Amino acid sequence: MLGAGASLSRLLRRYPPQFLQKRLLRGGRLRVREALSAQPQGCDVRVQGWVRSVRSQKEVLFLDINDGTSLQNLQVVADPKLESRDLCFGSSVDVQGKLVKSHHRKQNVELQAEDIRVVGSCDSIAFPFKLKERHAADYVRQFPHLRCKTNRFSSLLRIRSEATAAIHSYFQDNGYVHIHTPVISSNDCEGAGELFQVETPSKPSEPGGNSHFFDVPAFLTVSGQLHLEVVAGAFSRVFTFGPTFRAENSQSRRHLAEFYMVEAEISFTESIQDIMQEMENLFKVATAAILSRCHEDVELFHKYVAPGHKDKLDHMLKNKFVIMSYSEAIEVLKKAPEVFSFKPEWGCDLQKEHEKYLVKHCANIPVFVINYPYDLKPFYARDNVDGPQHTVAAVDLLVPEVGELYGGSLREERLHILQSRLDRLGLLDTYQWYLELRQFGTVPHGGFGMGFERYLQCILGVDNIKDVIPFPRFSHSCLL
Ligand code: 4AD
Ligand code: MG
Repeated sequence: MLGAGASLSRLLRRYPPQFLQKRLLRGGRLRVREALSAQPQGCDVRVQGWVRSVRSQKEVLFLDINDGTSLQNLQVVADPKLESRDLCFGSSVDVQGKLVKSHHRKQNVELQAEDIRVVGSCDSIAFPFKLKERHAADYVRQFPHLRCKTNRFSSLLRIRSEATAAIHSYFQDNGYVHIHTPVISSNDCEGAGELFQVETPSKPSEPGGNSHFFDVPAFLTVSGQLHLEVVAGAFSRVFTFGPTFRAENSQSRRHLAEFYMVEAEISFTESIQDIMQEMENLFKVATAAILSRCHEDVELFHKYVAPGHKDKLDHMLKNKFVIMSYSEAIEVLKKAPEVFSFKPEWGCDLQKEHEKYLVKHCANIPVFVINYPYDLKPFYARDNVDGPQHTVAAVDLLVPEVGELYGGSLREERLHILQSRLDRLGLLDTYQWYLELRQFGTVPHGGFGMGFERYLQCILGVDNIKDVIPFPRFSHSCLL
């Protein structure tokens, strides 16, 4: 038997084929993905998974089984005597038999079953997904506890896993150190007041007592940036990739209350161009890795979920991203033939409709909008000290359909400027520790954050953010 966790590919690398042959001859347990790519023929194997289809013919019984390791199923061929009432779409099975060459042109191998044990039956009438039916995304979304059993969602989960690995690899390959920034924090980094407060339930022994667990009010983090900046005071390149929380009362297709953010901080940089270059590189390098590592899964999205999206993505990947100042963007919007619900004015936030128009105006190539009005961005953004139209060195990356994918900036590293801004905001005491970073070896630095779910939406063409995260949290959603 192949030991638990000892994958065939690892064994293939480590041992000569004769050794592997012997292991398999002893009745090795294989995952579907391993079985599909296995060379040894006629060996005894054992495969466990869930039934994706059952076709019973007079002479032969066909099963397709899947265990989440690949989009492709493993075909099991059996004597109809092995059929049982419990063997149906959705049931879990343990199959023993011989892995042989398949004569079917679509697959290399098939499993000739000698024994099929139904581990768990599945009530196919009550089961919300039906064999061979393609269910609409909003129907599937009603079953967060079962949707990983569908092709579409299992592909999404594999892509999400590979995308996570690709992002980590990008940073590791480019000299970044991974930092675990805290989930519980005392600050509102973005200053937007979209905080979830963390409290322990008050105990009956403390009537009306509301003593905080921490000495100060605590919240779920809205961004790991400030903690990353701490570490960027001693490490030139750092990143974090973790859950982020925002109490945005939004039912939109691009907002969640809990989402994942990829954040990087780069020290010794005085140029917003450097930050944009990293943002663009991360997008392009990670996407290329995902396309090559989970080609089949991505193809499912580009074929059935968002037909035509592959060309849109190729277009984004092969073109240099556009750069435009906020002031230019406002001019473009003012000249637009479209009638916007929100009139574009210098000093106002860009709305989704504006973002969409700007990307279209730039031939559907992602566009960096830089140098935002001082009052639109948080206290940490570096002051451009540039006269009447006062701006900061902040950047947002806008992409087709999704809109804002990244937010970033140079950070205010000059103690006196930061001090007076915090003073005006009444935040001097709260951010004393942050000011100290500017007292003890400050450096010009900057960074960015990318919404991981919006990134997946962007590369796969998924319209609703709730369809790219295993368990979506949004206002008034039921929690599992
Ligand atoms: O633009 P944001 O608010 O930037 C920051 O939090 C910075 N502190 C990041 C940094 O510089 N280290 O958020 C970054 C990105 C957005 O561009 C968007 O993609 C995503 O996070 N995002 C959300 N994604 C899903 N649901 C929400 N409610 C989101 N809010 C922001
Ligand atoms: Mg933003």
